[in-house]
Amino acid sequence: MTENPEGTAQNPPPGNRPDQKPGGRRPHGKMRRRIAGALAIGLGLLSVGFLYAAFAPQPQVAQAQPDAALIAKGEELYNNTCITCHGSNLQGEADRGPSLIGVGDAAVYFQVSSGRMPMARQEAQADRKHPLPIFDPETGEGRANLEALGAYIQANGGGPVTPADRGEALRGDDPGRGGVLYRLNCASCHNFTGVGGALSSGKYAPALAPASESQIYTAMQTGPQNMPRFSDQQLTPEEKRDIIAYIKSVNGTNHPGGNALMGLGPTAEGVFIFMVVMSGLVGFAIWLGAKS
Ligand code: HEC
Ligand code: HEC
Repeated sequence: MTENPEGTAQNPPPGNRPDQKPGGRRPHGKMRRRIAGALAIGLGLLSVGFLYAAFAPQPQVAQAQPDAALIAKGEELYNNTCITCHGSNLQGEADRGPSLIGVGDAAVYFQVSSGRMPMARQEAQADRKHPLPIFDPETGEGRANLEALGAYIQANGGGPVTPADRGEALRGDDPGRGGVLYRLNCASCHNFTGVGGALSSGKYAPALAPASESQIYTAMQTGPQNMPRFSDQQLTPEEKRDIIAYIKSVNGTNHPGGNALMGLGPTAEGVFIFMVVMSGLVGFAIWLGAKS
């Protein structure tokens, strides 16, 4: 028998009960053990699944039951303010606006709360403006409308979702680490102090001071225009929050290069001082030469 290679009738293998008769009851015991084993594995899997469901962080794209009334309200707002450029099914319109399928609630929040959308006319880059009053995130009505519009876009293709925390609740507690991450990921375009800077072909990275915490977060999530998108793999939510804490701590007040020479950064300021000293020396030499 291949079932029990190491045990014989006189010498039951370890694990068998000593009163167990070989042959007769053994298949039963074996069956019971198999069932018990299967049950244990099943229970184990169930509890792992349960623990996972209880403790796993909600993925960004998972939205709770979409609220039909909210989505309907969002669709109405969309039809009134966005449809001419983004199309009747969010598919986009040639030469007017890109498809909004899958851009997510976060892109809507960023674009509309910062007044970039609805765009008034075609331009190289939609500028930050005061938002439309109906979409002003400073008012309760504006927040409700932004939420509805976002829910409608979110219901069509998913995408990143605006974090529920707002304002100071979105600032991480390690602005030092945020500063390191900022210099690695953002300073090349937005400058060391967040004053912004020019990019190629008439485009520019804007100053960061006017952006709210939610706008900074959603900008990183969605990568508007020439800005890269920073997924949660590239910058975890905690790292994004630390970057926000850093930006909010700098905001045009804290210049890393010492004196506030238009926030040009340490290199430019070093060059500036060098030039001042050098021209002083040259001037002195000329004056000496003229005297003799
Ligand atoms: C006059 C045309 C126009 C109108 C109206 C308009 N948009 Fe746009 N939209 C654009 C253009 C063009 C772009 C791409 C250029 C850019 O991002 O600067 C864009 C980009 C966007 C993006 C970014 C897409 C992405 O891939 O990240 C979102 C989100 C968006 N629009 C939402 C809206 C919403 C919501 C409304 C209505 C409140 C709206 N737009 C109204 C023209 C328009
Ligand atoms: C390759 C250049 C580039 C990099 C790198 C970059 N950005 Fe941007 N960023 C841009 C551009 C361009 C815009 C303007 C997009 C638009 O107007 O649609 C922008 C817009 C923004 C805005 C919106 C400001 C406003 O006026 O509302 C914020 C906030 C922002 N970026 C934060 C960041 C942060 C934080 C990082 C680093 C994690 C970063 N950016 C990295 C190019 C960049």
